[in-house]
Amino acid sequence: MTLLELERTKPITNYQSLMTRPRRLRATPALRAMIRETELNARDFIYPLFVKHGTGRTAIGSMPGVYQLSVEEAVREAEAAAKSGVNAVILFGIPKEKDPIGLENFAEDGIVQQAIRAIKKEIPEMVVVTDVCLCEYTDHGHCGILNTGEHFHSSLPEGYVLNDETLDVLAKVAISHAECGADIVAPSGMMDGMVSSIREGLDGAGYENLPIMSYAVKYASSFYGPFRDAAEGAPKFGDRKSHQMDPANVREALREAALDVEEGADMLMVKPALAYLDVIRVVKDAFPELPMAAYNVSGEYSMIKAAAANGWMDEAKVTLETLTSIKRAGADVIITYHALDAARWLK
Ligand code: PBG
Repeated sequence: MTLLELERTKPITNYQSLMTRPRRLRATPALRAMIRETELNARDFIYPLFVKHGTGRTAIGSMPGVYQLSVEEAVREAEAAAKSGVNAVILFGIPKEKDPIGLENFAEDGIVQQAIRAIKKEIPEMVVVTDVCLCEYTDHGHCGILNTGEHFHSSLPEGYVLNDETLDVLAKVAISHAECGADIVAPSGMMDGMVSSIREGLDGAGYENLPIMSYAVKYASSFYGPFRDAAEGAPKFGDRKSHQMDPANVREALREAALDVEEGADMLMVKPALAYLDVIRVVKDAFPELPMAAYNVSGEYSMIKAAAANGWMDEAKVTLETLTSIKRAGADVIITYHALDAARWLK
């Protein structure tokens, strides 16, 4: 209908008698605040830190504002987080040397082990979460032991990430983090049975009270690109599609989550967040009794940073809107590189 035709038609409504006007409750900031359904808090955030050997900080090109930090710098960054109301960090390590198994991953003087001890010493109340996976530590960059050499299984493709051989290493890594004082371990490798093998390992070592936050639903996503620069953990060949989930699937997410709940996961995670808000909602509705985390991943961060640097979007507003949408979708906790900035903007 053209504007002209519209003018010729008689009004179909007596506007004075409109009964329902959602705008009534949007008229003032106070009314809007009163009916707001989702409220973001600094304490919802987990702040990722990349820890390296040596001193100082190294900028990460694809993630402006994120650095590889020495242990000392990681403590400083955790202190800054605490000051802005962020109570939790998740640690990723960049080892000195890499090998097929990733020995530094469970070494007493490994980089993450050092960082846990240092942060817990300086800021005991900080919740220190650790990522439990092999990819940053292995020379091939894969999340587990590969099907080669002495581990060769002829029924599986050469270079396939072996499941059960990897489980033993994951349990070792989790125990080693626990020994340093980690508060939560977060297995991210999407190995079948990773939660139960870690639970068994922790319980056997006397850490039956240490919670497991499982990366239960983790997709084979291209949004991890910048992280792989940051953590130097890109696979040297191939991809992660034999263990991480197909972005096309959501029913399978329920199966993954159900298994992890059965194996004793204390918290579930969906990752990435933004392109998977529907998955967050579905998993939250299926397991409302478990706290849910969502990982607002590196690529999601870098997209906002790039647009903001070009002056295309308002960084603060877009970031807070993004984080609010992740919480609205059902996440109780959000792992995000924006944590420090967002906490300050929320003040
Ligand atoms: C695996 C791990 C990855 C991320 C977190 N843990 C990389 C991967 O699976 O390839 C990605 C996080 C991000 O993109 O911010 N250790």
